Amino acid sequence: MRIVAEKLSFTYNKKSKFKVDALKDVTLTIEEGSFFGIIGHTGSGKSTFIQHLNGLIPVEKGFLTVGDINLSDKKKIVRKRYKELRSKVGMVFQYPEYQLFAETVYEDVAFGFRNFFPDADKEEEKRAVFETLALLGLGSEYVNQSPLDLSGGQKRRVAIAGVLVAKPEILVLDEPVAGLDPVGKNELMKILHALHENGVVKTVIIVSHDMDEVCENCTEVAVFSEGEVVLSGSPKDVFKNTKLMNELRLGVPITGQLQDSLSEIGVEIDTDFSRDDFVEKVVEYFKNSK
Ligand SMILES: Nc1ncnc2c1ncn2[C@@H]1O[C@H](COP(=O)(O)OP(=O)(O)OP(=O)(O)O)[C@@H](O)[C@H]1O
Ligand SMILES: [Mg+2]
Repeated sequence: MRIVAEKLSFTYNKKSKFKVDALKDVTLTIEEGSFFGIIGHTGSGKSTFIQHLNGLIPVEKGFLTVGDINLSDKKKIVRKRYKELRSKVGMVFQYPEYQLFAETVYEDVAFGFRNFFPDADKEEEKRAVFETLALLGLGSEYVNQSPLDLSGGQKRRVAIAGVLVAKPEILVLDEPVAGLDPVGKNELMKILHALHENGVVKTVIIVSHDMDEVCENCTEVAVFSEGEVVLSGSPKDVFKNTKLMNELRLGVPITGQLQDSLSEIGVEIDTDFSRDDFVEKVVEYFKNSK
C-alpha cells in the first residue's frame, strides 16, 4: 500500500484564538516497501501527520490515500473501511509501554489480537501471540510475566507486539527508540529492520529527532518544519543540504559534518552518509591520492 498526501492541512482548535496550523499543504508520497523517516523539530507536525495515516485524525483539508482507501472522501468512508485501515496501518505511539495494562505479557498482546480477530479461536490467538513475541525477540518464558517486571526495552517490545499481532502492512512508530539506552536502541532498530526485510511488514515509518538514526536506517526521509515538508528524498539527497539543515537547527549526521570539514580542505567525498559508506569512500579517496 502506497501512501499519498496532497496538500494535506490540519488546524487544531480551529474556532478558537488558540488555533494552531499543525499541517500546511503537506504533499508527500510514501512508497510501499520503504523504511521511511520523518524528521523535524518539536511541534513541526510529525505526530499530527502520522495520526492521519490510520484515521485517528480525520482529513480536514487536502487529499490522503492509503492504498485504495481514500481518506479524504468523507461521504463514502464507512466504518468498515476505517476498521480495515486500522488493521493495515499499525500505529505505535511514543512511549507505548505506558499503555500496557494487563497482568501478563500474554494478555496484553492477546488484547491487540482480539481487537482485530474477534472470531479467532484460542489456538489461533495463542499461536499469533507467541509468534509475534518471538519476532520481537521475546521467547515463551516472557508470556506469563507481568509487563511491570520487564526492562524498559522489553516493555516497549511487548507494546509493539500488541500492534504487530494485528498483522499490519504498514508499521508507523513515533520515536520508537526514544528514552532507551544505546544497547536497547540498537536492538530495537535491528528488530525493525528484520521485520521489514523478512516482509513481516511491508513498510516501516519512523518519526525521529536523530539525524544519525535516520541516516543509518531509512531509505527515504521527509523533513518537517512548522507544519510543512521542506525537504524529502533519499538520505543522500536530504543530508547534502547541510546549510538548510543547519538553518532548521536539525543539523546533519556526523558523517555529513565530517564531509563538510573535509570539503573545506579540498577533499570531496561522495557518500550516502551512512557510516559504512562514508568510511569506505574516505579510505578509497586517500588510497587513490597516494
Ligand atoms: N491536541 C492538540 N491540541 C492543540 N494543539 C496541538 C495538539 N497536538 C499538537 N498541537 C500543536 O500542533 C503543532 C504540531 O504538533 P505535533 O505534535 O504534530 O508536532 P511534533 O512534530 O510531533 O512534535 P514533537 O517532536 O514534540 O512530538 C504544535 O504546535 C503543537 O503544539
Ligand atoms: Mg510528536
